[in-house]
Amino acid sequence: MCGIIGITSTKNVSASILNSLRKLEYRGYDSAGIATLESGIIKEVKCEGRVDALEKNLSKQKIDGNIGIGHVRWATHGVPSTINAHPHSSDKVSVVHNGIIENSTILKKLLIKKGYEFKSQTDTEVIVHLITDYLKKNNLKNSIIKMLNKVHGSFALGIIFQDQPDLIVGARRGSPLAVGYGPNENYLGSDSYALKSMTNKVTYLNDSEFCIVKKDGVEFFDEKGNKVNKKVLELSKNENQYEKGDYKHFMAKEIDEQPITIKNCVNEYINRISNSLNIYNFPWKDKDISSILLIGCGTAYHSCLMAKYWFEQMTTLDVNVDIASEFRYRKNRFKKDCLYIFVSQSGETADTYAALDLCNKNNVKTCSIVNVVESSIARDSKFVLPIHCGPEIGVASTKAFLGQMLVLYILCLKLAYARKDIDKKIFSFKVKSLLELSKNVKKTLLTEDQIQLVCKSFVDAKGSMFLGRGFSYPIALEGALKLKELAYVHAEGYPAGEMKHGPLALIEDGMPVVVLAPRDEYFKKTISNMQEVIARGAKVLLITNKNKDEVVHENIWQSIEVENINDDLLPFLITIPLQKLAYHSALNKGYDIDKPRNLAKSVTVE
Ligand code: M6R
Repeated sequence: MCGIIGITSTKNVSASILNSLRKLEYRGYDSAGIATLESGIIKEVKCEGRVDALEKNLSKQKIDGNIGIGHVRWATHGVPSTINAHPHSSDKVSVVHNGIIENSTILKKLLIKKGYEFKSQTDTEVIVHLITDYLKKNNLKNSIIKMLNKVHGSFALGIIFQDQPDLIVGARRGSPLAVGYGPNENYLGSDSYALKSMTNKVTYLNDSEFCIVKKDGVEFFDEKGNKVNKKVLELSKNENQYEKGDYKHFMAKEIDEQPITIKNCVNEYINRISNSLNIYNFPWKDKDISSILLIGCGTAYHSCLMAKYWFEQMTTLDVNVDIASEFRYRKNRFKKDCLYIFVSQSGETADTYAALDLCNKNNVKTCSIVNVVESSIARDSKFVLPIHCGPEIGVASTKAFLGQMLVLYILCLKLAYARKDIDKKIFSFKVKSLLELSKNVKKTLLTEDQIQLVCKSFVDAKGSMFLGRGFSYPIALEGALKLKELAYVHAEGYPAGEMKHGPLALIEDGMPVVVLAPRDEYFKKTISNMQEVIARGAKVLLITNKNKDEVVHENIWQSIEVENINDDLLPFLITIPLQKLAYHSALNKGYDIDKPRNLAKSVTVE
């Protein structure tokens, strides 16, 4: 949510800031802005809407300068508008902010009493006036420390000063922030993706740290102002992973990449020669874990739900699943023998991070499953299992979902075998099936043509339902989420067996309903529930797997058959047509697929 960038250089920085804002746009895209210091004066250009609009404004209203900050916004306080767009400036300082200042109302009242005037509806403006006020009686560093002590909430900040031609302050509490190192210039950015076109050398700020970035050096401090020594990390240079290539949208590319990302992940975790799993340095003994709690948000939560079914089927562990935003405020009983697993693509989701932090403070076992290995969640977990998917840029999570499920499945297999809950024969069979997964995902991608034929019915309908039982239930939730998120149509995921307890009343003539009924142990029950919705007028799109003997087509509107594979792995395959359904429905409506309205990729506010 919101992306920030700062550059101090020997050259004009506007073009590089604009370029980085394009990379950061996935974090927020309702308004954008840039501020530079030109001949000792802070100059701003801002706009409502996308970075394209900002570029147009900049061509009319050129701003130069060797130091500057930029921002893409996902509105929290105040509507998306030019006036609320960042940076926010006084004649002394200019600030970009990602996060929320929770005590902004009180601070605003105090500052208004002191004579400060507020132009916007944002919480960020209090930071501008606080620093301006502290600077009257304090040096720069103490003014920053005082401001940081005064504000509550979560934030990442980038600040430039009217009388400092080569100095950017960065500060973080809760929201991510990185520093990048270039030749005769240095940078501040919300993530390494924004910095990658300029450098592959970065340092991540820890919570409550701040930094002073100059073009020939960077200093880091803790909240009290004591100097902190930090490591410089070298990032991989795989630039083409960040490009769309021949694809129209990142989402389409990311869906099609799944056979490769699955293969890469399988290769990381499976030793094909010994048919064993490569999970090294797992820090706990099997006997020290008797339960598991899986925590995530959105799609990551759905992969947690999926894992519950696998863990319960393969192990004797107690397994529960929680939504991070609920977990963090409940009266939890922290258990020493529980493994707390945090699932997050970005590794920066504020609620998931807060849940992890709470667990760490209660000194329990924490493990994370992430895509971005440099992320805060990865850094602060006691054990990390990466999903090896490569960057996921489309706001809708696709390849990361399959990657999360895959790593959760592998972890489940590891624990089940180590605990002797499954024997060698079953373990080997399941490991071998995993080696077949990528090939089957690839074949299932060919269902695209069939999906294109049905999507019109979904976008034209008042609403739709996605039904599944057992392993297919979390996938039904995920399919409905994807359709809502991208095509902006109401879609509900439901356990097929629950329909008669209320939601059946929603079914009316012609309503499109997706029924997920692979031929697993739940097949017959789901087919009965399917007939119940058909009897009430639903148009059913059945998603099942291929089977020579049994053809199910009675009263069905359309059916799609995925490949055959070990039942445990069918959830991976039945997800693919649902991703394609959401993609083509959004395409049909002409929506912005990689940047759906009101959303952002990295949810760094709670
Ligand atoms: O980065 P995370 O996996 O922690 O993100 C969690 C959710 O915000 C994310 O999965 C969201 O639900 C997706 N946009 C869904 O496609």
